[in-house]
Amino acid sequence: MINTSKKELKDTVETRRTFAIISHPDAGKTTITEQMLLFGGAIRQAGTVKAKKTGKFAKSDWMEIEKQRGISVTSSVMQFDYQGKRINILDTPGHEDFSEDTYRTLMAVDAAVMVVDSSKGIEEQTKKLFKVCRMRGIPIFTFMNKLDRDGREPLDLIEELEEVLEIDAYPMNWPIGSGKTLLGLYDLYHNRIEAFRPEVINKGERFIPLNEDGEIDGDHPIKEQSLYDQVLEEALLLKEAGNEFSETAISNGELTPVFFGSALTNFGVQTFLETFLNFAPEPSAQKTEDDTMVDPADSDFSGFIFKIQANMDPKHRDRIAFLRICSGRFERGIDVTLSRLDKKMRLSNSTQFMAESRESVTDAVAGDIIGLYDTGNFQIGDTIYQGKDKVTFKPLPQFTPELFMRVDPKNVMKQKSFHKGINQLVQEGAIQLYKAYHTEDYIIGAVGQLQFEVFEHRMKNEYNSEVVMTPLGNKIARWIDPEQLDENMGSSRNMLVRDRFDNPLFLFENTFAMRWFNDKYPDVELTALL
Ligand code: G4P
Repeated sequence: MINTSKKELKDTVETRRTFAIISHPDAGKTTITEQMLLFGGAIRQAGTVKAKKTGKFAKSDWMEIEKQRGISVTSSVMQFDYQGKRINILDTPGHEDFSEDTYRTLMAVDAAVMVVDSSKGIEEQTKKLFKVCRMRGIPIFTFMNKLDRDGREPLDLIEELEEVLEIDAYPMNWPIGSGKTLLGLYDLYHNRIEAFRPEVINKGERFIPLNEDGEIDGDHPIKEQSLYDQVLEEALLLKEAGNEFSETAISNGELTPVFFGSALTNFGVQTFLETFLNFAPEPSAQKTEDDTMVDPADSDFSGFIFKIQANMDPKHRDRIAFLRICSGRFERGIDVTLSRLDKKMRLSNSTQFMAESRESVTDAVAGDIIGLYDTGNFQIGDTIYQGKDKVTFKPLPQFTPELFMRVDPKNVMKQKSFHKGINQLVQEGAIQLYKAYHTEDYIIGAVGQLQFEVFEHRMKNEYNSEVVMTPLGNKIARWIDPEQLDENMGSSRNMLVRDRFDNPLFLFENTFAMRWFNDKYPDVELTALL
């Protein structure tokens, strides 16, 4: 254990900012991430993260799946330093086939950045991920991207955001024109204009200060544009009729500061990053199962595992468990206890996720994410801790699966490896398992198609068990109180199954089937996970 005073540890923790970027595919998440990494000097040229995303650096057959599906794990955690802060960006795979890991990643962050395509507005995947952030009450910062393209009216976008996501919005800046006519941003928060077009950049000055009335003093080429008068009117309207700025509301996740910009042309990204870092919270205390709080500046090390990435390198069949540090300082080779099993272990093989490579951990404290090479000890949600007093963090929530498959062994003689594989993968949190109420058929559930592919691949490669998967399609899973259950309630439109803890639930064909059920059994209460 490094002999560090509490004050020193506290000071180091205060420099940490850990956040996820959420968006719908193609909104520009990769592009904006790259710009941030460029500012931090973590990569030298744009395209690095993108190249990983498109599989240029694919190393194993595991990567092959991701390559085909255009999903990245190599960039799932990126760490870099910027203006005295150490930033951990956690990626939430920007593909429709995202997985339960995507949701769980949101359990390990202190804030979220929501990237929206300003020509499209709020899209499906953004909505789903937003819901989880909202449930956690973490601050959410919005970046309305692609301003260099003709998009929707800014007011329209803000209105939609507030209505669809049920959150108040506070525009930190406001576009002056858009697409071909984009002149710049009227920055209400900093009381300045950030110029975009060369013809309105006077003497190389990109930032034009505004006076107390929010106007430019003296002559300036931008004042000759009619859009300048228009934005002054709009800004006035926002000041008078818009939401009030409140740091408390931001930190409670009730008000989202909205920034406009264009990631591709690197316009407004730096302003966004710097302002965001001012408001983004440092790592907070984490709650344990018995409702005590673990202070991030506690000298004893603790953390929880929120994601397990298996088979990164097929030669070694290794797995990486992603750990969010909650307190103390991580040092290679420290002795810890795995809370679930009361098992002592030494953490000797670990990795840090610097943007361009995996490096061994040098200095990791609360807020940081480290990777632990694992031979099968860890499960998702596990707590590890140092010291005499047992620590178990609150379990991670389970998310309601939306896709289902029946699964059988290809070779009925290989039942043993089939059961072993399924049970381990379920325990690990890779997939959810259900059984048909009467026939005991195995049904697996996932929030994204990718989980099925990973499941099939791992069953074959790690457990030597080939499986036959029969798609059951999209279903709405709703749990029912066993006391209220009558087995005749099940039908072809609402299949009755049990979860792995033997709790009964229905898999509804669609919303009509569920409504029909609600009408028929008005007293029966149906519940979802998250
Ligand atoms: P994602 O990670 O959210 O899926 O999005 P990504 O950054 O990959 O961006 C999706 C597409 O949108 C890319 O184009 C990217 O260049 C473009 N894009 C991102 N930000 C902006 C922006 O501010 N303005 C404009 N006009 N486009 C933007 P692509 O054609 O799919 O890829 P590529 O040909 O650029 O590689």
